[in-house]
Amino acid sequence: MEKLMIAGGYPLKGTVRISGAKNSAVALIPATILAESPVTIEGLPDISDVQILKDLLEEIGGTVEFSENDMTVDPSSMISMPLPNGKVKKLRASYYLMGAMLGRFKKAVIGLPGGCHLGPRPIDQHIKGFEALGARVTNEQGAIYLRADELRGARIYLDVVSVGATINIMLAAVRATGRTIIENAAKEPEIIDVATLLTNMGAKIKGAGTDVIRIDGVDHLHGCQHTIIPDRIEAGTYMIVGAAAGEGVLIDNVIPHHLESLIAKLREMGVQIETNDDQVFVGPAEKMKAVDIKTLVYPGFPTDLQQPLTSLLTGAEGTSMVTDTIYSARFKHIDELRRMNANIKVEGRSAIINGPVQLQGAKVKASDLRAGAALVIAGLMAEGVTEVTGLEHIDRGYSHLVEKLNGLGATIWREEMSKEEMEQMKNA
Ligand code: EPU
Repeated sequence: MEKLMIAGGYPLKGTVRISGAKNSAVALIPATILAESPVTIEGLPDISDVQILKDLLEEIGGTVEFSENDMTVDPSSMISMPLPNGKVKKLRASYYLMGAMLGRFKKAVIGLPGGCHLGPRPIDQHIKGFEALGARVTNEQGAIYLRADELRGARIYLDVVSVGATINIMLAAVRATGRTIIENAAKEPEIIDVATLLTNMGAKIKGAGTDVIRIDGVDHLHGCQHTIIPDRIEAGTYMIVGAAAGEGVLIDNVIPHHLESLIAKLREMGVQIETNDDQVFVGPAEKMKAVDIKTLVYPGFPTDLQQPLTSLLTGAEGTSMVTDTIYSARFKHIDELRRMNANIKVEGRSAIINGPVQLQGAKVKASDLRAGAALVIAGLMAEGVTEVTGLEHIDRGYSHLVEKLNGLGATIWREEMSKEEMEQMKNA
């Protein structure tokens, strides 16, 4: 097992290229199940979630070629193999196998998904959608069983705006009979990306990216080629890195429109930001001002950037308040930041940050993916060396993090953990 070592305080400068979007990738890959001939997805990120999904598609009989970020899936020999255990439990997005397998085979057995622990993460809205389309859904010993004689289009109102439920219902509905209407749908760019792939496969979808999506079911979907959108959360993370420790960082391969809420907040803090068609430039870090942030569904401030931004706010002058309205317990990074000398308290769904403080290097543990990003940023800002364990979380979502940061002039490396350290981690 490895840990990440970060020697803080080095000024960062240069260009970093953003990879394909994780939260698109984890839906696009299962979506290939719905086709009847090979689908190629270009520009996938090099992260463990993608690798696990590749293995799962092979487990159900798919032929998958994956090299240089491009994946070609031949789904023609796939079967509706039950996946109650094993790799399916490793990532939350394995729930997309439910919608895709239900859409293609009218049945599926999928173990309840894993993923980051951010408080309760129910999937009741996904199930409500599948049931409205005519599926019988039962939970048997920790696995969800879905069966349908026929899938029929339906009008589905989501009680909670959910990215996962919106995509999962689209996946199940594209091959249903008749029209499905999803009301109060989520509007995240990843939903448009999945709808674009499905449309290229022959699906009939209108309204993706708005809160009403109309899907007219078709009998067959065919193979196609699709290029994934850039990862707005990875791009946002590097923008925050630039503001935290930069002397001018250019973020390349990004859609600035996807990051308007972060750009506005960074500017409010006093960070200089310039944008063009597919790049964002973050100017040298100056004196920063405290700001308040409330996470919201897209296009509001993304919950996935709340944790990284909290690290930056420890260096801002004044009191900031970060409120997460999407997840109730996305504050596990705060205790770790406190070990690094941050002055933060958590009250209910809010973190109150008093700054500026000079962070100090410490031994800290990433409890989830974006907590990991927050600790890396804190490590870059800190005096001395920071050791981050829990790397398996970071590897789920950040492609070549060490190489990209070293490319900007950071001093960061992976190191094998000693037996004693691994023992200490187990007992912690
Ligand atoms: N919710 C329900 N019932 C449901 C579904 C969701 O109550 O059936 C609640 C959730 O508990 C949460 C809120 O609705 O409070 C929003 O959840 P959503 O379904 O939108 O989240 P998700 O689809 O499970 C995706 C991303 C997350 C990101 C959220 C919010 C993927 C694979 N994951 O999760 O990404 O935080 O949307 O934008 O797309 C990450 O990348 O670190 C990450 C956690």
